[in-house]
Amino acid sequence: MSSVVVITGSAGLIGSEAVRHFAALGMDVVGVDNDMRGYFFGADGSTQWNLQKLVKEVGDRYTHHSLDIRDRDGLDKLFTDLGSNVGLVIHAAAQPSHDWAAREPFTDFDVNAVGTINMLEATRRHAIDAPFIFTSTNKVYGDTPNSLPLVEHETRWELPEDHRWYGGIDETMSIDSSMHSVFGASKVAADIMVQEYGRYFDMPTAVFRGGTLTGPGHSAAELHGFLAYVMRCVMEQRTYKIFGYKGKMVRDAIHSHDLITAFEAFHRAPRVAEIYNMGGGRFSNCSHIEAFKIASEITGLEARTEYVDQNRAGDHQWWISSTARFEEHYPDWKLTYDVPAILREIYESNNERWKA
Ligand SMILES: NC(=O)c1ccc[n+]([C@@H]2O[C@H](COP(=O)([O-])OP(=O)(O)OC[C@H]3O[C@@H](n4cnc5c(N)ncnc54)[C@H](O)[C@@H]3O)[C@@H](O)[C@H]2O)c1
Repeated sequence: MSSVVVITGSAGLIGSEAVRHFAALGMDVVGVDNDMRGYFFGADGSTQWNLQKLVKEVGDRYTHHSLDIRDRDGLDKLFTDLGSNVGLVIHAAAQPSHDWAAREPFTDFDVNAVGTINMLEATRRHAIDAPFIFTSTNKVYGDTPNSLPLVEHETRWELPEDHRWYGGIDETMSIDSSMHSVFGASKVAADIMVQEYGRYFDMPTAVFRGGTLTGPGHSAAELHGFLAYVMRCVMEQRTYKIFGYKGKMVRDAIHSHDLITAFEAFHRAPRVAEIYNMGGGRFSNCSHIEAFKIASEITGLEARTEYVDQNRAGDHQWWISSTARFEEHYPDWKLTYDVPAILREIYESNNERWKA
């Protein structure tokens, strides 16, 4: 069996979790990450600390390439060198923020959309049988979820219990005719292209449309990394700006570990051109208000928040994913972390780095 996994965004939240996981399974891991998160979000966002930790922990099983996924020739050379030894590709490098994308739409599109076809094409040319996993986003549905009949509760917006998506939104929601933000639109382009390489070239590709992906490996910055940034603000006593919806907008949160076990399940029994909504579902979700309450309980510190009465353009008022489709295909997979467990781990892991 081919024993090399290529992981882009390998110093980021999802990439680094994947590196550790697949190295522990005995695979050789080739990571691609140029710390562009530091360019996007400044010093808070740089993933250098995580890369250093990774190299120390994983040792010889990990080889790092500070390569830009926009560098088509560089990727082709990397895949030429690795050849058919590549048994799995996890593409997690991206520009991940709504707000940042509007600052530099070309950069956003070049990284998210063009970077993805660069990865697909390198895989098709050199390792066509390798499962190709892409981290898409629920933002491909644009702001369509905001047209759901939401009801205001004390700490959150909620769907009526008899609504068909009360348990979570599934993949039948339209991705068309809505506002996606520039970021959401560049991810749609990548998402469709990953599906297309599956259908058209018969490659084992899968699109995982994430809700909030989180965990201690996040380089928490104001523009990206919801729960990690909530915890960082409480720990460092920074003021967190809450944008709109009375702070009651709901997100489901999946720990990077639980996402990577889903990737492993797909790797072991790949399918062609799949799409999966992937998040914490009803098991793991919270509103902003609820997240701050839990973070305060864990730290014993008061949260400092400032309310801005204008939601971010294209932002979701309520999102809970249905993972039913994935669970039907992979019945052994289970979520293991809920929001309090996630926040506690983020707190404990960053105790040394984040101090008031
Ligand atoms: N975190 C979330 O809440 C969330 C939700 C839905 C989808 N996603 C998607 O999941 C994926 C991973 O997200 P994450 O939270 O781990 O992000 P992250 O920013 O922590 O990790 C991405 C990594 O990619 C690297 N990178 C960026 N541009 C690059 C380039 N041009 N070349 C090489 N490396 C580059 C960054 O330096 C960073 O280390 C992304 O595709 C993101 O859009 C994330």
